[in-house]
Amino acid sequence: MTATFDRTSEIQLNSQVSSFLKQPKKLLINGKWVDAANGKTFPVYNPATGEAIAQVAEGTAEDINQAIKAARQAFENGPWSRITVSDRGKLIWKLADLLEANLEEFAELESIDNGKPIGVARVADVPLAIDLFRYMAGWATKIEGSTIPISVPYDPGSKYFAYTQREPVGVVGQIIPWNFPLLMAAWKLGPALAAGCTIVLKPAEQTPLSALRLGELICEAGFPDGVVNIIPGYGETAGAALAAHPDVDKVAFTGSTEVGKLIVQAAAGNLKKVSLELGGKSPNIVFKDSDLETAIPGAANAIFFNHGQCCCAGSRLYVEQSIFDRVVEGVAEQGKKIKVGPGLDPTTQMGPLVSDEQLDRVCGYLQSGLSEGATAVIGGQRIGDKGYFVEPTVLVNTKQTMKVVQEEIFGPVVTVLPFQEIDELVSIANDTIYGLAAGIWTKDIAKAHNIASKLRAGTVWINCYNIFDAALPFGGYKQSGWGRDMGREALENYTEVKSVCVRL
Ligand code: NAI
Ligand code: MG
Repeated sequence: MTATFDRTSEIQLNSQVSSFLKQPKKLLINGKWVDAANGKTFPVYNPATGEAIAQVAEGTAEDINQAIKAARQAFENGPWSRITVSDRGKLIWKLADLLEANLEEFAELESIDNGKPIGVARVADVPLAIDLFRYMAGWATKIEGSTIPISVPYDPGSKYFAYTQREPVGVVGQIIPWNFPLLMAAWKLGPALAAGCTIVLKPAEQTPLSALRLGELICEAGFPDGVVNIIPGYGETAGAALAAHPDVDKVAFTGSTEVGKLIVQAAAGNLKKVSLELGGKSPNIVFKDSDLETAIPGAANAIFFNHGQCCCAGSRLYVEQSIFDRVVEGVAEQGKKIKVGPGLDPTTQMGPLVSDEQLDRVCGYLQSGLSEGATAVIGGQRIGDKGYFVEPTVLVNTKQTMKVVQEEIFGPVVTVLPFQEIDELVSIANDTIYGLAAGIWTKDIAKAHNIASKLRAGTVWINCYNIFDAALPFGGYKQSGWGRDMGREALENYTEVKSVCVRL
């Protein structure tokens, strides 16, 4: 496996990106860019080189307090509390237009900050974020209640008029991860804004840059001060303060299941509402009657897309016994062809992992799998000693009980196991603490639907994988989370239902 790491320093940045990187990066509180209360900053690294590319103001509890105050004021008394739903929708749409006008800059920023190939950010991350904002802009005018006929048996002969309305839940704290930094900001901000909430957003410490640039566009679009506040900082300080704050009505989190549980505990203080999108260990099932021409590249994409740093990655591949060798060989061939390199190199197909911490974590899992007796058909190691590159890896001779089959690796590592019977398959596919996604490859449509209904997962892809749309809800069963992002369902996270009853 070769990679062209040394070219990173030669790659010319877009002039907007280089000037953005040079500016001081502050916190957005009440429509103003300010330094952190403690005056501190933290470094942001280019994962292709391990070099620091920017310093960002480090928000802590005091900044979170100020941001929540601004969000509360904007929610209760600011122009946002009086704005028409139509104007709310227009502002969100305008933000989408601004993002589109700066698509290239965002693609580059995302690539240098997260490590992902710029070509992927250009066709997936940024356009999906734009589309999400447009989809949610449309919802602003369509968040409706209902009129409800009621009988009230203990008040005979009486008449009532009863209706429900959906109101914004209030001040929302949003804590997001680093795997799709801009897109995760959009998934969270879009529905909260459509519902009329005000927000304190904490981007991941590894990748705060696109959220900060998005903050500039939010100001430019004309959102009133305090509606969106952005506080970069670490999880244990800024994130924990946001999750625990007594004046936050709701916290929305995407990240590890471990931290998801901490968020639930922190939220208990004032019983704020919680939605969580957490880890996964998704089964991807290939039947012998599938079209292998699409199933094999599909299975490779299911794990290798975004370097396996997807909560829904198809990381457990189950293949019907009679085609096992052929599929393993096919997926390995696909993995071997992937060109690994810095995200900004236009020929790169897979970039580095996001951080040295993730590199250690993924390499730790590789060692664990190999030492427990798994065999790497391809990959199994770090590439080079600069940047956080890991080889696309296919592990066989694994057992259902191994750590690499049970735990989320969050890297380009797939385990492949054979199956014979459908009943056995369903139980091993569901043998996980997670329930985020699953894939099924078969030409037998009845079998596909039958198995889809038996899988305990929030999304089931049939003859495809990693298909996302702003209209399609996404989220998990079991320890993959609470609630759904995207689609109409996402609005439930950000609204309270009020029943109003009038005696006539
Ligand atoms: P993490 O869960 O620690 O980080 C996600 C976000 O939570 C970040 O913004 C972080 O600052 C914040 N955070 C961390 N500790 C917090 C706390 N005590 N209170 C409030 N916020 C806190 O995830 P990390 O450490 O970056 O990655 C570890 C593993 O988590 C990965 O290997 C992967 O398995 C999983 N993960 C899952 C993601 C998903 O999309 N569901 C995304 C990122 C990571
Ligand atoms: Mg963590």
